[in-house]
Amino acid sequence: MTDDRTVAGIKAALAAQVQEAAARYPTSRSAIMPALELAQQKYGSVDGTTYQAVAELLDVPEIWVFEVASFYTLFDRAEPGRHHLRLCTNVSCMLRGAEEILDCLQEQLSVKDGETTADGLITLSGVECLGACDKAPVLMVDDEYHEDVTAETLDALLKVLTREAKEGAA
Ligand code: FES
Repeated sequence: MTDDRTVAGIKAALAAQVQEAAARYPTSRSAIMPALELAQQKYGSVDGTTYQAVAELLDVPEIWVFEVASFYTLFDRAEPGRHHLRLCTNVSCMLRGAEEILDCLQEQLSVKDGETTADGLITLSGVECLGACDKAPVLMVDDEYHEDVTAETLDALLKVLTREAKEGAA
């Protein structure tokens, strides 16, 4: 990650990749999502400066970029913790225990939906359908899907994340 999050800095850093992505689509508007994804990979989150830079790179209105960023929960509009847990709370997952899993995560992490743990390690978000309904309940840990999540797999996962944090702090 880099600190140069000015419009000019973002444009300079992403121009080549964004143009490459844009070339794959019939209109610039279609490339907003991949451009935001590139920005999030590089900076960890997207914000107003990012929207402006992406809008200028793709020559589209900034509001279009904001609309995409604010609609999709896969875009972090605030700096997340080191790991971002996104739990699907939509119908299929809810029917297969997502509410209990969300309760369990909130209790174990001592955070509410949308918050980050005090040590900055984990952000927890309840999100809409993650597109893997046949494997409900589904939890994303950063970019990785965890399917058919149970209390046991959740426990093991949290232990791994916590151990990583301790090792990272040592
Ligand atoms: S409802 Fe949870 S992945 Fe679709």
